[in-house]
Amino acid sequence: MGGNRISVIGTGYVGLVGGVCLADFGNFVINADIDQGKIKKLKAGEIPIYEPGLQEIFDRVTQQGRIDFTTDLKKALDNSEIIFIAVGTPPQEDGSVDLKYVLEVAREIGRNISEHKIVVNKSTVPVGTGQVVKKTIEQELKRRGAKTSFDVVSNPEFLREGKAVFDFTHPDRIVIGTESKEAQEKLQEVYRPLYLNNTPFMFCNMETAELIKYACNAFLATKISFINEMANLCEKVNANIKDVARAMGMDGRISPKFLHPGPGYGGSCFPKDTRAIVKIAEANGVQLKTVKAVIETNEAQKFLMVDKIVSKMGPFQGKTLAILGLTFKPETDDMREAPSLTIIPEIIRQGARVRVFDPEGFKEAFWRLQSFADNITYCNSEYEAAEGAHALIIITEWNQFRKMDLNRISRLLQEPYFFDLRNIYTRKEVLNAGLNYIGVGIPDNNI
Ligand SMILES: NC(=O)c1ccc[n+]([C@@H]2O[C@H](COP(=O)([O-])OP(=O)(O)OC[C@H]3O[C@@H](n4cnc5c(N)ncnc54)[C@H](O)[C@@H]3O)[C@@H](O)[C@H]2O)c1
Repeated sequence: MGGNRISVIGTGYVGLVGGVCLADFGNFVINADIDQGKIKKLKAGEIPIYEPGLQEIFDRVTQQGRIDFTTDLKKALDNSEIIFIAVGTPPQEDGSVDLKYVLEVAREIGRNISEHKIVVNKSTVPVGTGQVVKKTIEQELKRRGAKTSFDVVSNPEFLREGKAVFDFTHPDRIVIGTESKEAQEKLQEVYRPLYLNNTPFMFCNMETAELIKYACNAFLATKISFINEMANLCEKVNANIKDVARAMGMDGRISPKFLHPGPGYGGSCFPKDTRAIVKIAEANGVQLKTVKAVIETNEAQKFLMVDKIVSKMGPFQGKTLAILGLTFKPETDDMREAPSLTIIPEIIRQGARVRVFDPEGFKEAFWRLQSFADNITYCNSEYEAAEGAHALIIITEWNQFRKMDLNRISRLLQEPYFFDLRNIYTRKEVLNAGLNYIGVGIPDNNI
């Protein structure tokens, strides 16, 4: 069998999806992680994250013997010619990126390699990190007197959680940041099915590739904050954001994507990457005023949602609110920086209790909302959450919340407040069930 020998370090959303899909592209992959629990599960055929479509490919490539899992980094490095770094790059208190996991892997590479390797950085890292990785490997090689050659490449990942498998196998483009011709050619081989399928490959230097990733995320976050502000304005001037966004989206220069107002963006990427690019720019004497405003708007949006709810139903004291959706978006179990983690504590601080339901988020929510546990009831369905509540609030637009039996919801609620923070219902259908409809950017008299 052909195919390149690859190791993927990190088995999170990017590393595991990447590893499994690269194996399916015909490569031989060793997926390594320091988390013994994750590797144990993976070896037993169990996927530790919720990601639609992953299990099927996982089963196929494990059966074909194209992928192996290990906590032994040395084994992974020894058995691969191409090493993908896909470990976490979490934010620090001040918003800058914590590179300790990436640099630890770089040190391990320097300590262990004895033949030429291509080191591909897939983690989202500040501009210049590729050079730091290179120096770190060189230092370790020097320390042990080894003369092993290697290339460092930046190959940022653009997948979305919840659609990660599709995105990895149908990317809009593959960005490869390196000046090494050999590394460029090797990566074309690694991504062979995509290359043959006419996926655009974009070659540039390492710094450009690193910045492309932040520029994309900052721009998408900007679209979200922009449409959220337009929605807030719509509510005051009797305009409907759905129509505004639709007409904006018809303009080819704008595109309809990311023009859906809501309770603010969350997740493991946008909040972290917007703060990081501001820091990266500041460190280089550049002020990113637009991105700073985007971050500020996003923070404010979560609290504006709570203000909106209070303004419609009155003070929360003694009330119970049903909350549907905790994860930062549907089809994931990821709760990192989810708007619900700001909205729920604020609701509780203002005196209400909450009854919550989410199809996949509970495991994460339990510990993230631990200090509010006394005021949270975890329910088994959207209907159980609605039972006896004074209002229902949709925070995350899981598919099953799009087609609820509204008459049943209406009967279960004590008071008829229906807050649709994702605009997934029309006012008309909600009114027909005897409930008051409150969306985002949809004026009160709009049917
Ligand atoms: N999650 C996304 O949607 C997404 C999308 C594009 C890019 N990214 C970027 O990709 C990177 C990874 O993100 P993620 O969401 O997959 O992270 P994650 O936190 O889900 O997974 C990271 C994994 O790396 C492992 N790890 C840490 N140090 C290690 C080491 N020394 N050796 C081996 N394994 C180690 C951890 O145990 C963990 O399993 C980040 O830089 C992120 O910004 C994420």
